[in-house]
Amino acid sequence: MYASQARITQSVYSEMEKIRHSALKHNEPAGIATALLYQSGWFVQWKEGPGPELLKIMDRVAGDSRHHDLRVVHRSRGPRMLAGPWSMAVVQCNETPADMEDRVRILKEQVDDGREFSPAAIWRRLSTPMEHPGAMRQEDPDAFQRVLVCSAAGTSSFDLVNWLGEHHETEVVHRRFAGAHALDVGTNYVDFEQGGRVLRVIAMARHGLSVPLTRAFMSDYSHFVLLLSVDGDRNLELMERVLRAYSTLSHPPVIVGVASMPEMHTLPNTLARRFRIPYQLAIADSREWESSWHAIEPLLACWQQAANSSNVGDSLRSALGAQ
Ligand SMILES: Cc1cc2nc3c(=O)[nH]c(=O)nc-3n(C[C@H](O)[C@H](O)[C@H](O)COP(=O)(O)O)c2cc1C
Repeated sequence: MYASQARITQSVYSEMEKIRHSALKHNEPAGIATALLYQSGWFVQWKEGPGPELLKIMDRVAGDSRHHDLRVVHRSRGPRMLAGPWSMAVVQCNETPADMEDRVRILKEQVDDGREFSPAAIWRRLSTPMEHPGAMRQEDPDAFQRVLVCSAAGTSSFDLVNWLGEHHETEVVHRRFAGAHALDVGTNYVDFEQGGRVLRVIAMARHGLSVPLTRAFMSDYSHFVLLLSVDGDRNLELMERVLRAYSTLSHPPVIVGVASMPEMHTLPNTLARRFRIPYQLAIADSREWESSWHAIEPLLACWQQAANSSNVGDSLRSALGAQ
């Protein structure tokens, strides 16, 4: 993973499209997957694949005049985390390039000092840093709880996060990203302190579950909250998306289903159990965010254990095919 200062004259989107075109042409045959972020005048790129091929493409990319001041912030060997050739994010926010540069510099210093971060943690530190004072007081500011929320129908996950922002009088951060062919995916998140710990709750549109970058972050969540619908078909569709996104994970997040009637949980619960994914029931109307949160919140407490609770591994993979 590297960060570099962009030097682009055209619109960011058209440059990203051109880069995507080159990447799909050259990277895919070489077995390389990548995620590219543009934010506040900086690129951040995550690349993974066989070493020699990756270094060859990096040589070319490093000489590209559309960026300069390239700084490698992470290098490691390990299993693939990006489940597809291309993901991208263009983030519009009020930060200046100097804000980004500060983050890159601090991170690079820590990495050079021997601190180890996962690729997901590096990406998060640069793009969506945790700035809540409660996390800064922790020994490891990265050790905060992350909870993902999706709704089976409508936009109740976003309503819930917006309500949490109002309730805690804190800013809701909006981000957009995309896969190789998928539409733009929106996410909103909010950071706050509750029950003696710092939480980040992230709402994501359902189709975001198929974007490789979001899948790479899946193991980072302790819980995945599903706001279920009265329409069972919608719940089944959402569960199928969740199971696909889980198929490459060894430690998937615990699922918390939210629905007002116990029988609405039967299908998602049965599916989850079949693949040894822990499923917890929150009994509340998923369209009412305040009561939903009151039902969800107590279930999130054992988050450190939850984050490493099970190993779905092969059974899911063979049932669904790793996609
Ligand atoms: C930030 C950034 C990231 C890039 N990432 C890739 C990449 O992953 N793969 C790739 O082939 N080209 C990438 N490029 C483009 C290459 O530098 C180069 O322009 C391209 O590979 C040339 O091939 P083409 O003329 O066949 O498109 C990137 C460029 C920039 C500025």
